[in-house]
Amino acid sequence: MKLWEKGINPEPAIIEFTAGKDRKTDLHLTKWDIVGSMAHVIMLNDVGLILDEEKNDMLKALHSLFVWDEEGSLVIEKDVEDIHSQIEKEMASILGTTGKKIHTGRSRNDQVLVDIRLYTREEIDKLADLINKLFNKFQSLSDQHKEILLPGYTHLQPAMVSSFGLWFGAYAECLADDILLLSGARALNNRNPLGTAAGFGTTLPLNRKLTSELLEFDDLLYNSAYASLSRGKVELAIASALASLAQTLSRFSNDVCLYMSAEFRFIDFPDEYVTGSSIMPQKRNPDVFELIRGRSNIIQTLPNEVAMLTSNLPSGYNRDLQLLKQLIFDAFDELKECIEIMLLMLNNIKIRKNITENPLYNAIFSTEEVNRLVKDGIPFRDAYKAVSEMVKVSTFSKTSVSDYHHEGSIGNLCNEEIARIFNERMKCFKNKSASEMAEKMMGHVK
Ligand code: ARG
Repeated sequence: MKLWEKGINPEPAIIEFTAGKDRKTDLHLTKWDIVGSMAHVIMLNDVGLILDEEKNDMLKALHSLFVWDEEGSLVIEKDVEDIHSQIEKEMASILGTTGKKIHTGRSRNDQVLVDIRLYTREEIDKLADLINKLFNKFQSLSDQHKEILLPGYTHLQPAMVSSFGLWFGAYAECLADDILLLSGARALNNRNPLGTAAGFGTTLPLNRKLTSELLEFDDLLYNSAYASLSRGKVELAIASALASLAQTLSRFSNDVCLYMSAEFRFIDFPDEYVTGSSIMPQKRNPDVFELIRGRSNIIQTLPNEVAMLTSNLPSGYNRDLQLLKQLIFDAFDELKECIEIMLLMLNNIKIRKNITENPLYNAIFSTEEVNRLVKDGIPFRDAYKAVSEMVKVSTFSKTSVSDYHHEGSIGNLCNEEIARIFNERMKCFKNKSASEMAEKMMGHVK
């Protein structure tokens, strides 16, 4: 069954190739396709294109499809191209003539746009929820271990005194910036394309403001041709936000792999959380963090993939755009899995104390020695030169957390200020789930 069938039998190989992976990928969209269709039906009735009774029947039929989907019995059949076609087919088989009115005033082009935007809005909110958990974990580890010193590195050489408080807290603040990018992508995403039809509007008297309100979008995507162009643009913004988050996960994972190695031994995990080797009996490997690093590094290529896929596309709908769905949907799944496993690992992380007692790290206190001389009135450069002479032989008196006072230093982490920024940025992530939305739409059955 093809929505566009006109008496000529399409060549099966062409249908298989053009449907591609959509029969599986589109299942992510089922619930939202139904919710979008419910809003569309309520609007068609509001503008007089369908009768009250037809609206009621169509909403009830859509609701039963929603329930089938929740039970796992709604599938995209072999000869059906995508979820939009399947839903229309089901509507016609449940309601006959009335069911065939569901596509009035819309195209699969605006339909898929609205589905993707609703689905990604929910995915963004789910991801934000996990980022929130990870942020809290980093901050509590930072608070808990704020007194424990750690050598800080530049160029991978011991540089200055750092602390577990500073290290964990740094990744919390990374997430505060990642969440800002995600909220920006969410704002771009949260406008309504429904009613722009194939990209050129329709002569039917649609009320686009009504579907926007029903679907809880911030506003409309006004220009119908821009609605088509926005496919790829919003994905690029989302991809950039996801890539930024992936960068945070990857860099933290790399630190963990390094800090867990025999040469560093700053941190460790219980035996149940590390993996072994099939030949070397002694091995305890941080595979989880290596895989988070690898998977997040792949996600950092996502903005490039989206940009390449959409470069040189003319305005208007082009089938290439279909391929965007899987790239973005997979990235959400990957990142959610990575954060979940990272949280499990962090719940079990072991921190080693007294690391900086090792004479290997004596020289990391030399900059503070310079500062002591500066405080006694010696010009910085002279103090620096004097201490440089001492570096090879000297054991400097050790600095402690309480010697540091300014904002963002080991003695004054400002975790509360960072939490304030983070929580402010978190406020926008709060829409209803598909089932809550479907229930709300059913309130329009009279
Ligand atoms: N599967 C298609 C996609 O994701 C749905 C839109 C089809 N539109 C069309 N004009 N063929 O893009």
